[in-house]
Amino acid sequence: MRILILGASGFVGSALHAHFAANHEVVGTSRGGHGLAPVDLADTGAVRALVERGFDVVVHTAGVVDLGAAQRDPATAYAANVAPMVPLLDAIDEVGAKLVYLSTDNVFDGTAEHYDESATRAPINVYGETKVAAEDLVLERDRHLIVRLPLVYGRSPLSNKFLARFAASEIEARTDIVCNPLYLPSLAPALEQLTDKSGVVHIVGAETLSRYELMTRVRDHLGAPARVVATDRFSAVQDCPRPLRLVMRSNRHDVVGPDVDSALADLP
Ligand SMILES: NC(=O)c1ccc[n+]([C@@H]2O[C@H](COP(=O)([O-])OP(=O)(O)OC[C@H]3O[C@@H](n4cnc5c(N)ncnc54)[C@H](OP(=O)(O)O)[C@@H]3O)[C@@H](O)[C@H]2O)c1
Repeated sequence: MRILILGASGFVGSALHAHFAANHEVVGTSRGGHGLAPVDLADTGAVRALVERGFDVVVHTAGVVDLGAAQRDPATAYAANVAPMVPLLDAIDEVGAKLVYLSTDNVFDGTAEHYDESATRAPINVYGETKVAAEDLVLERDRHLIVRLPLVYGRSPLSNKFLARFAASEIEARTDIVCNPLYLPSLAPALEQLTDKSGVVHIVGAETLSRYELMTRVRDHLGAPARVVATDRFSAVQDCPRPLRLVMRSNRHDVVGPDVDSALADLP
């Protein structure tokens, strides 16, 4: 298969790039560096020219992912996360490729016990709003796949953004935010099982736990000296409204990532 990965320098994108490159012809993009195809999503002509090289699947992982940054600068978040979608979808549809669009549990407000794919979206932050807007554009075309992810953790080939936190002397982590975090290496095999689907799928890990518990268990596994400091909505610095309970499930498949102990046993 010929696969295009938009955002192949990122935390998720570089892991997908490494996995798929073992068995497929893969082109990855970044805005510069890492020997990847240099493409800014704002350059619609460049995006079209790249897509027209011909791909079976386009995996879209690129954009503004930092919740605080999106909240501080909504215009930039919309410009990166929403504005490129229609030209991208037009180019993808013209060559008959399939889009796999990575979305987030932040499309939900965090007030329900759990969310399946048919649950009502009600984002409470700018990041979630941009992802809902992008999802709507994808859903207007019926062939494509939206994959909603929870917090993703693990080691990534080109982005150290998760593990780098353990190099600090202190890590603040919320006790009141819970989800089913997904171990990064389990994502690509899950996508391989689900790319024939269209519409929306949720892919999550097997265990529900708080950010504090996850960070403590990873810290203990790594033997890192970092102190994990428990915070909650009253004590944490508020850079962005954050949904508290983001427990996703699937009513469309039974593919699930490992529980945290199994993931940590695999984490070098
Ligand atoms: N990480 C998580 O826990 C998590 C959870 C739920 C959902 N997701 C979703 O998964 C996807 C990937 O997230 P991530 O954590 O891997 O993000 P990331 O590490 O921040 O990577 C983002 C990627 O987007 C690229 N990018 C940013 N702006 C761009 C632009 N204007 N044009 C072209 N490329 C641009 C970056 O490339 P350069 O900077 O090299 O240009 C980078 O490769 C996102 O759709 C996110 O919503 C992630």
